[in-house]
Amino acid sequence: MISLPTRERLRQRAEYTYKFNAETGRHGWLRLTPAYSLKIVEELVVGHANVQRVLDPFCGTGTTALCAGYHGLDGVTTDINPFLIWLAQAKTAQYSPTIIEATEDACKHALDLVARRAIEPVPAPPIFNIERWWCSEALEFLRLLRAAIEQAAQDNAAVRNLLLVAFCRTLIEQSNAAFNHQSMSFKSEQQQCLLFPLDRGASFNADVRFVLGGASENPSGSASVVLGDSRALRKVFVRQFDLVITSPPYANRMSYIRELRPYMYWLGFLDNGRDAGELDWTAIGGTWGIATSRLIDWQHSERHFDNPHLNDAIRTIAHADNKNGALLAKYVAKYFDDMWAHFCELPELLASGAKLHYIVGNSSFYGTIVSTERLYAEMLSELGFSHIECRPIRKRNSKKELIEFDVVAQWK
Ligand SMILES: C[S@@+](CC[C@H](N)C(=O)[O-])C[C@H]1O[C@@H](n2cnc3c(N)ncnc32)[C@H](O)[C@@H]1O
Repeated sequence: MISLPTRERLRQRAEYTYKFNAETGRHGWLRLTPAYSLKIVEELVVGHANVQRVLDPFCGTGTTALCAGYHGLDGVTTDINPFLIWLAQAKTAQYSPTIIEATEDACKHALDLVARRAIEPVPAPPIFNIERWWCSEALEFLRLLRAAIEQAAQDNAAVRNLLLVAFCRTLIEQSNAAFNHQSMSFKSEQQQCLLFPLDRGASFNADVRFVLGGASENPSGSASVVLGDSRALRKVFVRQFDLVITSPPYANRMSYIRELRPYMYWLGFLDNGRDAGELDWTAIGGTWGIATSRLIDWQHSERHFDNPHLNDAIRTIAHADNKNGALLAKYVAKYFDDMWAHFCELPELLASGAKLHYIVGNSSFYGTIVSTERLYAEMLSELGFSHIECRPIRKRNSKKELIEFDVVAQWK
């Protein structure tokens, strides 16, 4: 068990890019899986004895690796999105008191440069309809601040990372993004810019304090965060793992790139919409931009998972009374092809007796329920896993048939 102050540091690091919205009472932004909370991950981590190496093949914001590290274990994780790799590395890194102090100084220096306008602002990032995101004052402030961070932290990568994590918080806080829906929307024009008539610099300063609060205590275990594709995990890792805790993409057409685009553009991980679509196409479950048109020509891979329940669902969706039925049937087929490719990688990477927890929700397409949890269970069974269970965690939203599960299994 970790001490209360340590848990507070862990929570702070886990929430580096969560924003709590007092108006709606929701956590907004970068909570990539609704059910995947620090609480659930902690319960799973501490619920298994004799575990040292914990794998998360779908890192997202790095919750599993972070939690494993704070509980003295080795957290190892991968993701296909380079921005999330950068973020999870920054969240799980070790920071010395000297770095914390240097970050405080660099923050002061950056805000001074901004206040005196003693720096050339960076160009506005090429985000489509950027004026919907930020009013002109906010945009000007962010452009100056982004340039000032580069200058103030030019000699120290760790300081730069901490300031950029705080910048991620600030850029969302000062945006017009609203979090009263499942995905993001924009505040009305009247509300725009009213929230920050005062000191924008003070809000960045508060974000830096929050980030440094978490950074002031380090995980006692180790964390390793590596860019990679979970369908080719054996190219990424050679070690054997005792425990897998993860939340893969759901088959629900959520585009992580779409959700993450403000961060990715401001931090230079994206330059244009085409690259955004390309990255989404490489992600499991991605359907944004070019990914949608590529689906039309997509064909099953030779080694796909041939299963009667899956085939039935695909057929029914394809024949739904909707012009997109055929396309979405392909979407579902590709999603399970990809997840099958992922699951096939696991056996060689698991120690005997290793446990798996996949937190995932089912989906509905034109009234046809796709029981992702059951299909995962059938895939795992076919690969030789035992003790397979689908434990319901919670309902997803107002649609009562949408539920999130913990799919549990054991390797031999
Ligand atoms: C549901 S999110 C994970 C959320 C995470 N549990 C957290 O705490 O934020 C799924 C993640 O899978 C990643 N992903 C999608 N396709 C992938 C692939 N082929 N290989 C590795 N990661 C992938 C996405 O980029 C996304 O970050």
